[in-house]
Amino acid sequence: MDAPLLAIENLRTYFYSRARRALIRSVDGVSLHVAPGETLGIVGESGSGKSVTALSAAGLVSAAPGVIGGRIELRSRQARRNLLDGLERYVRVKERDGRIMAVEKDDRGWRRRAETLMKGVRGKEIAMIFQNPRSALNPYSTIGAQLVETIRLHTSVKGEGEARERAIQWLERVRIDSPRLRFDNFPFGMSGGMCQRAMIAMALSAEPSLLIADEPTTGLDATIQSRIVDLLAQLKIETGITTLLISHDISVIQRLADRIAVMYGGTVVETGRAAEVLAPQAQLRHPYTAALLASVPSAEAIRRKSYLQAIEGEVLDTIDVPRGCRFYGRCNRVTEAIRENCASLEPPLGEVAPGHKVRCWLYPASGKA
Ligand SMILES: Nc1ncnc2c1ncn2[C@@H]1O[C@H](COP(=O)(O)OP(=O)(O)OP(=O)(O)O)[C@@H](O)[C@H]1O
Ligand code: SF4
Ligand SMILES: [Mg+2]
Repeated sequence: MDAPLLAIENLRTYFYSRARRALIRSVDGVSLHVAPGETLGIVGESGSGKSVTALSAAGLVSAAPGVIGGRIELRSRQARRNLLDGLERYVRVKERDGRIMAVEKDDRGWRRRAETLMKGVRGKEIAMIFQNPRSALNPYSTIGAQLVETIRLHTSVKGEGEARERAIQWLERVRIDSPRLRFDNFPFGMSGGMCQRAMIAMALSAEPSLLIADEPTTGLDATIQSRIVDLLAQLKIETGITTLLISHDISVIQRLADRIAVMYGGTVVETGRAAEVLAPQAQLRHPYTAALLASVPSAEAIRRKSYLQAIEGEVLDTIDVPRGCRFYGRCNRVTEAIRENCASLEPPLGEVAPGHKVRCWLYPASGKA
């Protein structure tokens, strides 16, 4: 594999709950790599820590008092930097009898350091698209003006006329009809799908090294969703952009991702090539991934509208993280031979096949990792 463009090592992003005097371990030891030109899909139920992982990489976790640890290394344009470098100096966790009594954070210092680390990175090296594109666009400025501003700020194109032509090219590339007319539209005059296309144009027009797409199709009508997925697939071929794609919708991930990371309770429980992790007959599979796949409705179920088959059990509370496997309380694959391990020891993310890792005691390789 090429040297990764983004390497996340043991990321821990915690929020302090004053009410419970404990840390909410939203992301709890996540390691991920994204190679240049690759799309890594992160999938998992609501609350599994997907967005917090992405926000951490984009330097957008600012909710005080938060704690963040580990490394997020971005390698782009010959430079390599750790986007969390030195942040831990600004936070102190005070414990008594194993309970967290307070989190002391020098918020101003933390913010200043984070801004220095992200200078020239967010919006330029790392661009993001989200759900609700309308709220991410400036309602008081035309789509064209917003694109021209991004292009002049972040690329070598500085002249007004040239930036305007470049902006129109981007509107064409995201398949917005009549781009010269749309250039002068305000976001409120555009549909949700069109706003998402404009948002994608805005993100890519900065010529970023990494695109983070967090639920880019959620909240749109089904037909619009599939058109946006088609567009992202096309742009992936045309631009070769390295992408971190987050979705709770496995069909979106299946269509666009080269590799997948399945998240559960703030950790990665399975990772590997998309074709391998999602193969219908896969023998080596995390029980949670199996449950996620089983909850994907069939075309027939969608037609009959009987597709609300959620995974049984409660989503993990990331304050009271169990000692053993985080999925233990919901798992239907525990055997007598491994029960003790499952209940009391967190399984490591072990390699079960080249490039395919699973965090589960069912697979002997787990013990060796
Ligand atoms: N600022 C915050 N303060 C406290 N807790 C937070 C904060 N942001 C996120 N969390 C908690 O962290 C956990 C992970 O949240 P996250 O938004 O990453 O989930 P997600 O996997 O993106 O889910 P979804 O599919 O619903 O978007 C959740 O339990 C959430 O409540
Ligand atoms: S380690 Fe045990 S509880 Fe956890 S997923 Fe595997 S079988 Fe289930
Ligand atoms: Mg999210």
